[in-house]
Amino acid sequence: MTAKSILLKDFPADLRIDRMPKHVAVIMDGNGRWAKQRGLPRIMGHRKGVDALKTLLRCCRDWGIEALTAYAFSTENWGRPLEEVDFLMTLFERILRQELEEMIEENVQIQFMGNLAALPESLRLEIDRAMGKTQSNQGIKFTVATNYGGRQEILQACRAIALQVQKGNLQPDEIDESLFEQHLYTAGTPELDLLIRSSGEMRVSNFLLWQVAYSEIYITDTLWPDFHRDEFHRALVNYQQRDRRFGKLESPSTKR
Ligand code: FPP
Repeated sequence: MTAKSILLKDFPADLRIDRMPKHVAVIMDGNGRWAKQRGLPRIMGHRKGVDALKTLLRCCRDWGIEALTAYAFSTENWGRPLEEVDFLMTLFERILRQELEEMIEENVQIQFMGNLAALPESLRLEIDRAMGKTQSNQGIKFTVATNYGGRQEILQACRAIALQVQKGNLQPDEIDESLFEQHLYTAGTPELDLLIRSSGEMRVSNFLLWQVAYSEIYITDTLWPDFHRDEFHRALVNYQQRDRRFGKLESPSTKR
C-alpha cells in the first residue's frame, strides 16, 4: 500500500488503486430530460445536476483521482433560450460563492477553461476570485469548461503558436505534440484517461477533442442528475476492465 492510498476514503474494495484514472472528464447531459420527466422546469434539472457534480468531485477527491474536468457550458449553448442561459450564468456564480470556502478547506484547485472573456462580468469576477484563492491548493484539480469548445481551444492554440513563429521565436519544425499541448487549456493536467457521458448520447459534442485521442469513453443511459456514487463506481469498474493499448499490441506495463 502506498502512502497516498492510506489517505483514500471509502475506497471501493473491488477497485484497484494502481489502475485508477488520473484524469476524468464528464459531459453532464440529461438535466432537461430529467426535469421534463418530472413535470418540472428545465432549470430544476440543472439545480439537481449541481448536486450530482458535487458528489462526483468528492468521490474523485476521496479516491485519489488527480483531475476532474466538467463540461458546464459549451460555445453552442448560447443558442438556448435566453432565460435558460441567464439562469445557468447566475447558477455558476452562486455555486462559486457558496462552495468556495469548502473547496478551500478540501484543498481543491478550481480552474475555468474556455473563452471566459465573453462571460458576464460578475461571473468573471467570481471565477477570478475562486481561481486566485485556490491556485496554491495541492489537492484535486477541478476544471469547469465554460463557454468552451474543443475546436475553439485548438484554434486559439494554433494562433498562439503562429504568433511565436511570426515573431521568429519558433521554427515550424519545432512544433510537436508536446509543444502544442502546452498551448491547450489543459496544459499541466494529466492525460485524459476516462471521458464519461450521461443520458446515452453517443457523441463527444466538441469536448476535449485533442485530449480524447486515447481516452476510454464510458456512456451511461442515466440522466445526469441521477449520476450518483454507485454510477461512478460502475464506470470505474468498467474502466479498469478495459485493455488500454494506445494503438500498440499490448498494454504498456507502466502507465504514461
Ligand atoms: C446539459 O443538460 C447540462 C448543461 C448544459 C448544464 C450543466 C451545468 C451544471 C450541472 C452546473 C455546473 C456548475 C458549476 C459551476 C460547476 P441538458 O440541459 O442539455 O439536458 P437535456 O439534453 O436533457 O435537455
